[in-house]
Amino acid sequence: MADDVYSYVKDALLKPPRNSPLLLRMVVLTFSMVCGVYICSICLKQSSANSAGRLLNVQVVRPCEKPYVEPSERRFIHFPKPETFNRAECACNPVRFFAILSTQRSGSGWFETLLNSHINISSNGEIFSVKVRKSNISTIVETLDKLYNLDINTSASKNECTAAVGLKWMLNQGLIQHHDQILEYFNRRGVSLIFLFRRNLLRRMISILANSFDQNAKLLNGTHKSHVHSSHEAEILAKYKPTINATMLIPSLKQVEQMVTEALGYFKSTRHIVLYYEDIIKNRTKLLDVQDFLKVPRMELSSRQVKIHRGSLSSQVENWADIEKTLKGTPYESFLRSDYEM
Ligand SMILES: *[C@@H]1O[C@H](CO)[C@@H](O)[C@H](O)[C@H]1NC(C)=O
Ligand SMILES: *[C@@H]1O[C@H](CO)[C@@H](O)[C@H](O)[C@H]1NC(C)=O
Ligand SMILES: *[C@@H]1O[C@H](CO)[C@@H](O)[C@H](O)[C@H]1NC(C)=O
Ligand SMILES: *[C@@H]1O[C@H](CO)[C@@H](O)[C@H](O)[C@H]1NC(C)=O
Ligand SMILES: *[C@@H]1O[C@H](CO)[C@@H](O)[C@H](O)[C@H]1NC(C)=O
Ligand SMILES: *[C@@H]1O[C@H](CO)[C@@H](O)[C@H](O)[C@H]1NC(C)=O
Repeated sequence: MADDVYSYVKDALLKPPRNSPLLLRMVVLTFSMVCGVYICSICLKQSSANSAGRLLNVQVVRPCEKPYVEPSERRFIHFPKPETFNRAECACNPVRFFAILSTQRSGSGWFETLLNSHINISSNGEIFSVKVRKSNISTIVETLDKLYNLDINTSASKNECTAAVGLKWMLNQGLIQHHDQILEYFNRRGVSLIFLFRRNLLRRMISILANSFDQNAKLLNGTHKSHVHSSHEAEILAKYKPTINATMLIPSLKQVEQMVTEALGYFKSTRHIVLYYEDIIKNRTKLLDVQDFLKVPRMELSSRQVKIHRGSLSSQVENWADIEKTLKGTPYESFLRSDYEM
């Protein structure tokens, strides 16, 4: 039987076509078609395996290509590789590092909500209000490294497509104390600084006194709030009028001024921008300056926060007559005049 089949095939293949040349031609044609399809499919498989291999190499081995920038700009561009998540489709988007240097009650909370309304900006709040993080320069550097590697997860984290990552850092949160080493860090890692201060330090003082009063009084249904989202809440908080210690007024204004001057001096060699709260309120173009400074695409920024103290200053302090008398004829006299109305 096997012999029969064998001889039949042998006959068909080797013997010159005599009986059915058409059948033979069909067999050969089909055979070559099957072979062709088979070879083709192997080729395709190999080439797709190859290109997958190449893609894998790009992601794992090859560093991201830096976009062309001036040599002096290069140290400001980073490609973090977070340990806690994968930057996915934005792995090769450059990221810039920033820090907002400010003082309490200078509008930095409001400013930060504006920045965080940008799809590519993550400003992670006062991460150094946590005591252990600012206990010494090693813990400060460790915290900053983690932040700039996108590994600190806050409500502001945008993760994959963050193009500018930073924090809000109060001058009295270890910044002045460790200024030498922090300056070295900022310059070594290419951190850009946004100084945010308030021009009217008297208004700032009122805001501090009212805020610290509310820490105990908790005027809003027993909850202390530093920032509010409705004009109703703002009105309730603004009802409290602090009494300012007139003897201490000038020395304490001087002290804040000195701290600000000192900070500007220590960090002047960094790439930085200086902003004032009052200017941002009056002129929203300042927010475009900030976005340009951070090299993020320009967007309309927004905040839900409502200003607590509005209108004239004289109605916000219990002992206004004393304050007026104390500041008249001093370099701080201009603080008495309302520099904006809202
Ligand atoms: C820094 O502070 C941390 C946390 O308080 C502590 O564990 C560490 O030993 C300190 N390091 C130095 C060098 O003082
Ligand atoms: C960050 O925290 C949020 C909320 O706790 C969580 O849903 C998210 O998965 C966290 N992201 C990372 C990268 O850990
Ligand atoms: C900004 O975020 C969007 C959406 O997440 C992303 O598509 C875009 O590439 C990001 N832009 C930059 C400059 O990283
Ligand atoms: C506080 O109480 C008032 C009424 O006294 C109410 O209208 C308001 O919604 C409450 N606010 C919160 C945050 O609970
Ligand atoms: C103002 O502050 C000084 C120094 O702390 C204090 O001696 C003085 O009693 C205070 N004055 C008032 C009216 O509270
Ligand atoms: C608003 O700010 C922009 C940018 O900083 C500045 O060029 C412009 O002169 C300012 N406008 C006013 C009215 O102050």
